[in-house]
Amino acid sequence: MSSATTRDSFHSRIGFILAAAGSAIGLGNIWGFPTQAANNGGGAFLFVYLVVTVLLALPALYAEVYIGNQAQKNPVSALAQACGERFHNTGRNAGIIGLFGAVMMLSFYTIVAGWMLAHALSALFELLGFIDISVWLSTSSTLRNIVFTPIFIILSASIIHRGVHAGIERWSSRLMPVLLAMLVGLIVYILQQDGAQAGVALYLIPDFAQVTNPKLIISAMGQAFFSLSIGVGGMMVYGSYMKKGQDLGKLVLSIAALDTFIAFLAGLLIIPALFVAQHAGQEVFTDGHLIGEGQLIFSILPSLFASMGSGGLFVSFSFFALLSIAALTSTISSTEVPVAYLVEDKSMSRKRATWLISTVVLVASMTLVAFFDMLFGLVIQVLTTILQPLMSLFYFLVVGWIWQRGNKLTDMAILQKNFKLKLFGLYLRYICPILLIIVFINVAF
Ligand code: PFF
Repeated sequence: MSSATTRDSFHSRIGFILAAAGSAIGLGNIWGFPTQAANNGGGAFLFVYLVVTVLLALPALYAEVYIGNQAQKNPVSALAQACGERFHNTGRNAGIIGLFGAVMMLSFYTIVAGWMLAHALSALFELLGFIDISVWLSTSSTLRNIVFTPIFIILSASIIHRGVHAGIERWSSRLMPVLLAMLVGLIVYILQQDGAQAGVALYLIPDFAQVTNPKLIISAMGQAFFSLSIGVGGMMVYGSYMKKGQDLGKLVLSIAALDTFIAFLAGLLIIPALFVAQHAGQEVFTDGHLIGEGQLIFSILPSLFASMGSGGLFVSFSFFALLSIAALTSTISSTEVPVAYLVEDKSMSRKRATWLISTVVLVASMTLVAFFDMLFGLVIQVLTTILQPLMSLFYFLVVGWIWQRGNKLTDMAILQKNFKLKLFGLYLRYICPILLIIVFINVAF
């Protein structure tokens, strides 16, 4: 169990991979990515997303995990240490900003995760014959948010307070393969429906005229950072729970590949599903934009499941239950950021820290529920397109510049012996910050 003096850790490399993949794979992949892709021209978005993932998000993930792993501390202390004596306070402050980012993420994420829980239960109640309750559960309402967001927060807290190994590693290791199998099965089904082909074409054939659109690039970049959980310290804290001396490059690459593959599959399911619904007479787009934005898949997917006949309800239940669990493994990692900070730096007990942070998250998410139209989209946008990329820029500067000035993080021995790593170091030092700055300038003007 973690305390101020003894740190808990993952018991194996695979434990880290599963927990980190659990953090990465979540609503961002299955709800965020397809919605964004459908809204931003399908194939063009997919193309830019893949490019940005390879050029920027992957190196940022490496930098984040590296800092945590070298420091073996929570993100606030890790960044302070990584910045050396001269920039100690800057590092600390950046860590605190990341911590706020984690709470921001949780404030909207727990709401959407609540929708998933409600839809899973809706299928279950319909199966049992309680049609009124089932309809209420599948219809979006403020009351439903007020009930299900706290339920989700409590679920997440009850896993977190048990600690890293018992709680996180075990949960993350079980359900990922089931989710993957389910996605594949659903894709096979949807591709046989009328209208699906148009969706596949829109998704897989990029319109290259659109790929230089700054709005598309910034959305794809935000989505890529969000999907890989970069920039709020979630991956840093997991990196710190792994013993030093691992081949981080390989670990990071496998996490990113898995995450991107799941997002790709989700797009291959949802975008054709939108076209199948359109073919069946449902209005889906106005002016190339999804009607109802992020809410739409919650009406498209249940009608898809309903079209499957008697087994559809069971599929619906399993799908939304799996999504709830995928969301849980993601909220666990961002809750762990402030919790680890309070436990290690403020000597709070793990249990207390967990419930304190959960209360803060509850207040934040209820504020979003109260001012939903004004705040929900705004918080997502500020977090993914401003805060996360800026934090990534900071990681690049720490690992690429401050790191080279001989502070404790420098693992020169590895650097000098390993040519590939040295080249990668140069890429992080020069190219990544420049690329990010170019994207920012492009968007601003
Ligand atoms: N990567 C998660 C997803 O795609 O759903 C979201 C996320 C988790 C973001 C953890 C940030 C974080 F620290």
